[in-house]
Amino acid sequence: MKIELCIFNLDGVIVDTAHLHYLTWKELATKFDFELSPILYEKIKGLGRIETLRQIMAWAKISKDEKEIESIAKLKNDHYVQMIQMLHPTEIRPGVKSFLSELKKLYIKTALSSASKNAKTILSKLELLQQYDTIVDGDQIEHCIPDPEIYLKCSQNLNITPSNTVVFEDSVNGINAAKSAGFYTIGIGKTGALSIADAVIPNFRGFNFKEMLNLLKFNLASTN
Ligand code: G6P
Repeated sequence: MKIELCIFNLDGVIVDTAHLHYLTWKELATKFDFELSPILYEKIKGLGRIETLRQIMAWAKISKDEKEIESIAKLKNDHYVQMIQMLHPTEIRPGVKSFLSELKKLYIKTALSSASKNAKTILSKLELLQQYDTIVDGDQIEHCIPDPEIYLKCSQNLNITPSNTVVFEDSVNGINAAKSAGFYTIGIGKTGALSIADAVIPNFRGFNFKEMLNLLKFNLASTN
């Protein structure tokens, strides 16, 4: 196993904005008289903005024309954008910065992948914009997850194949998408649904490159 690139998802991996997405969608869903539970939200976590809204509307049995869908999505985004204004570098999740510095020292490339069109704003608030070798966000992709385009763009930008790349993701949708294109995957969060990944860690606290390789080798050897 030769790992040359690590791709990091943003919301829920680098910073806990996945929770802010959930809260804003949950509030919006009440307008449809629909209760968006955390368990249900896990099923749509990682999808694009419009795709997420369409699924919530389908669950709530609500139908709207395209123009209305766009304006509801804008309403949700306006609320979300207000919430991310308060983000600060102290909110970068524990261990992320030291793992990134270790990768840099080892000449391992790093990429940031996020379907969010707010990714650059968040990275700038966290003072992380200059920390990755490439960034691919929601403005640069045509197909959202479950399509693996976002990860493939990261690896193509750096000329490294999926089989030499690890993707760190907190959503089942993201892990499935990355796996479908042949990337190694590490889930960030609780095991359970994330167990489809090659390995799962709760967060990056104390995590390092050697541990990453050992985890992947051990788990892959026991599944083969
Ligand atoms: C990320 C999040 C999703 C979110 C999507 C679009 O992939 O994981 O939950 O729906 O970005 O985010 P945006 O900020 O553009 O609405």
